[in-house]
Amino acid sequence: MSTVAVVGSLNIDLVIRAPHCPQKGETLIGGAFGMAGGGKGSNQALAAARLSAKSHIIGCVGSDDFGRRLKSVLTENGVDCSHLQTRKEAPTGTAVITVTDEGDNSIVISQGANSLLDDGAMAGAMNIFETSDAALFQMESPAKTVIAGLKLSRQHGCRTFLSAEPPYSLPREAWQNIDYLILNERALGFYAGHKLHKSSLTAMANEILNRGVKCLAVTQSSKGGMIFAKNGDHFSFDAFNIRSVDNTGARDAFCAGLCVGLCEGMPLKRAAKFASACGALACTKIGAHPSMPWRHQVSALLGEAHGDDYEL
Ligand code: RIB
Repeated sequence: MSTVAVVGSLNIDLVIRAPHCPQKGETLIGGAFGMAGGGKGSNQALAAARLSAKSHIIGCVGSDDFGRRLKSVLTENGVDCSHLQTRKEAPTGTAVITVTDEGDNSIVISQGANSLLDDGAMAGAMNIFETSDAALFQMESPAKTVIAGLKLSRQHGCRTFLSAEPPYSLPREAWQNIDYLILNERALGFYAGHKLHKSSLTAMANEILNRGVKCLAVTQSSKGGMIFAKNGDHFSFDAFNIRSVDNTGARDAFCAGLCVGLCEGMPLKRAAKFASACGALACTKIGAHPSMPWRHQVSALLGEAHGDDYEL
């Protein structure tokens, strides 16, 4: 069993279905409303646990009903919450999400207690980093914390994964502490400083690898994605053919899948396929937490028994 430390955000997602995402100044009559657990950190921690890793969450919630609800869902699913802080100074993070009839989304976040996760929390999680195979980060936590956490977890023997969403600038030294970087095309363009052209995807990826990242995964929704490794290895992976009802949290499921797969010793190609199956399954249900896939569902989609060897 692999052990994964997830450093990041926890939100309650307020989800409304709508015919399309609202334009500037537009009021839309939407459809059903729902509320579910979310936040990129908590989605990834939950997914890692459901994929049968030992999973820890390091984050902050407020001292309110939303915070209690998140903690209880994570605990029930086997996520270790001993480094989840309950803070009185701010409410639990909230995300307002519009999901279109095609299953696409747009998200606005009120960070709340997520903004209180500081580098002291990273130092306090040293014992978790020491016993984990990997540490997973996203960018809904303060930059200073993410940068400190990447460095510290790496120093304590973790492979580091950064799902750089929503992207913000990183200092030069931070790149060298990232083993696996997961980006969508928009974030890739942001970091490489290029407009997106198919022909320039490899050029942009090489630019990122040259900053010290060991491996870059570029996710391309229903087109699958590409993997670029520092050793020159690069390949594309397919998306699974599913009917998407809500893609919220799909990249979180992908990241958890990639991380768990690699920590279990899967070769990179195999781990990318496993991650892609996790991402696909997350699109088949409404809501982030409810859609994080279980290991047996992933095995079924891949057409194999859990525990098969990893030859492609
Ligand atoms: O990645 C999806 C997540 O982004 C949602 O659960 C929402 O809370 C935001 O953090």
